[in-house]
Amino acid sequence: MKKELFLGFALALLFVGCGDDEFSARHNQGKNCLECHSFTGGGTIFKHLHTANYDEKDASSKHKIQLLLSSGNIITYDKGNGYGNFKYQGDKNTIGNFTAQIVDNNGTVVNQSRTDSHNSDRLACNRCHTQEGLHGAPGRIVIFDVNQNLATAIQQ
Ligand code: HEC
Ligand code: HEC
Repeated sequence: MKKELFLGFALALLFVGCGDDEFSARHNQGKNCLECHSFTGGGTIFKHLHTANYDEKDASSKHKIQLLLSSGNIITYDKGNGYGNFKYQGDKNTIGNFTAQIVDNNGTVVNQSRTDSHNSDRLACNRCHTQEGLHGAPGRIVIFDVNQNLATAIQQ
């Protein structure tokens, strides 16, 4: 009897661990991941353009970061620690120029940079996509069409 009770408890813990909660945790949202990690790239997706660092409530983990390479290939960032955080650990040398895209759960592109405006020096997204934006970035990486360059893609 005791064994079964323990097993039930362990299973319950396992389910809690595997739930979405794992990604709702606060983990340096908005900060430059590469200041602490040796990933190839990383970044945070937010709902608003001028969200402060550490505001995990404004982050979106219902979206993903993908890089549309000028070759036509696509690289997708993996989920990182914390809600809305993403990381990439692949080879940076084969990337070249790319269009940075944000896609929703259905794979629809909801926001993108200008065509091929990003390159392998821009893999640590939050370095420029700060609260007010640095080096010409308008602010955070967001889930709506900032550049208004998806008009044809989302026509309705
Ligand atoms: C201020 C330093 C710091 C920043 C910035 C930071 N992290 Fe972390 N990260 C840590 C520490 C320390 C740990 C280990 C303890 C923990 O899990 O909180 C960790 C753990 C992790 C882990 C799990 C262990 C691993 O290395 O795989 C992932 C994934 C991760 N961070 C992703 C990110 C992403 C993505 C970003 C950027 C959005 C980021 N972190 C920003 C310090 C940081
Ligand atoms: C060196 C600075 C820099 C880095 C690093 C950078 N960007 Fe950008 N980003 C910009 C600039 C400048 C613009 C505005 C011009 C344009 O659209 O290309 C921009 C625009 C964007 C936009 C459209 C506007 C917005 O804020 O949502 C998206 C999406 C985007 N970047 C995603 C990313 C992603 C994803 C990464 C990491 C893979 C990244 N960026 C890394 C500078 C940067």
